[in-house]
Amino acid sequence: MKLSSRVLNLAPSATLGMKARAKVLQDQGVKIVSLSAGEPDFETPACIIQAAHQALDRGVSRYTGVRGTDALIAAMRLKFKRDQKVDYVANQVLSSVGAKSSLSLAIDACLEPGDEAIILKPYWVSYPELVKLAGAEPIFAKPNLESIKQAITPKTRAIFLNSPNNPDGSVLGESFLRGLMNLLEGSEIWVISDEIYEHLVFDGVKHISPASFSKDAYDRTLVISGVSKGYAMTGWRVGIAGGPEKLVSAMAKLQEQRYTCIPAICQAAAVYALNEPPELKAEIERMRAAYEMRRNRFLEAILKIDGLSCEKPQGAFYAMVDFSRRYADDQDLANRLLGEAHVATVAGTPFGAPGFLRIGLAASLEEILEGVQKISAFLGKL
Ligand SMILES: Cc1ncc(COP(=O)(O)O)c(C=O)c1O
Repeated sequence: MKLSSRVLNLAPSATLGMKARAKVLQDQGVKIVSLSAGEPDFETPACIIQAAHQALDRGVSRYTGVRGTDALIAAMRLKFKRDQKVDYVANQVLSSVGAKSSLSLAIDACLEPGDEAIILKPYWVSYPELVKLAGAEPIFAKPNLESIKQAITPKTRAIFLNSPNNPDGSVLGESFLRGLMNLLEGSEIWVISDEIYEHLVFDGVKHISPASFSKDAYDRTLVISGVSKGYAMTGWRVGIAGGPEKLVSAMAKLQEQRYTCIPAICQAAAVYALNEPPELKAEIERMRAAYEMRRNRFLEAILKIDGLSCEKPQGAFYAMVDFSRRYADDQDLANRLLGEAHVATVAGTPFGAPGFLRIGLAASLEEILEGVQKISAFLGKL
C-alpha cells in the first residue's frame, strides 16, 4: 500500500526533530542544555488557568461555531483593533489549532499548483513545506524591496512576512513595510503577515501591522497571531487570523470540513488571554522583560567567542549566530554540539541560513550562559 507523494516529499520539522533527538539523550540520563526550544520556558500564567477552570465548571464542553464562540469572536476583534489597529467584523476573524494551522488553512485557501509564494530569508521552517504541500512553489527573497521586486512574477500569489522573526528575532521596520505595501498595491498578491511574536519586542520597539497602512493593505493582508508565544500557551493550541472576508471565510470553509472548531475549553482560556486584563498584562511584561534581559546577556557572552557574530535580535526569543568562520557545516556542528557538548541548538540551513545556528533564549539565564560556555569549550578543542 502506498502513501501519497505529498506526504513522502514533506520534510520533517527541523526544530521538532532536534527536540526529539535531545529527548533521546535525556531519556538515557544525559544532561542537555536545551537551547533549541521554540516555546516559552514560562508556565501559562495562573490567571489564565483559573479562567479555564471556571469555564470547565460552567460546563463548557460542546462544539462551537467554526470561527469560535461569540465571546472568542469578540475577543479576537477587540485584540486586532487594540494591537493591529484594524477593524474586523465577525466574518473576518477565525480561531484555529495554533497559528500553524491558521497558516496552513490560509495557504490552502489561496495557493494552488503552479502558483508561487515569496518567503523572506531567514524563514520559519514550516513556510516552504506548507507551500509545497499546496502544490505551489516557494520563492526565496531577501528582506529588501529590490530582492522582492526581482522575485515577483505573474505567478506570484502570496508573500509571507514574519515580524518579529523566527529564527533571527529581526523586526521589519515601518518604512520597509510601507514601501512593500506600496509595491504590492493593485497586484493580485496576498500578504500573509505572521505576527505570532508581536508581544515580544525589545529596546522600546513598537509592533506594527502592515494591515493598518491603507485600504489596499487592509484588503490584501491576512494577520496571523495567537496565544502561544506572548502568553506562554503553546500547548493550548489557539491561533487567530483576521483579514479580508473572502480569504477568512475560505479558511473557515476548509476548517469546517477538517476540524469543525478548536476545543471549547481552549477557546475560553484564549478569550481571557486576548482580553488582556491588568493582572495578565503584568505577567506578559514580566516575560517580555526577561527575554530582553537574556538577549542582552547572551549577546555579551557569545560575542566574546572568537570568530562568531550575531545581529542583535529586536524581538522573539531566538538569536542567529554566524559560526561560518569557525565551522563550515552548520548541520554537522549542531549534531556534534548535541552529541559531544550536550547543547541542543538548531542548524541554520533549514531556515535558509547555512553557516548559522539558531540559539533559543527561552531558557533560564543560567542555562543560556552554561550553553555558551560549552559551545566556547567545544570550539576551543577543535
Ligand atoms: C513564525 C512562527 N509562526 C507560527 C508558529 C506556530 O505557532 P503556534 O504554536 O500558535 O501554532 C511558530 C511556532 O514556532 C512560529 O515560530
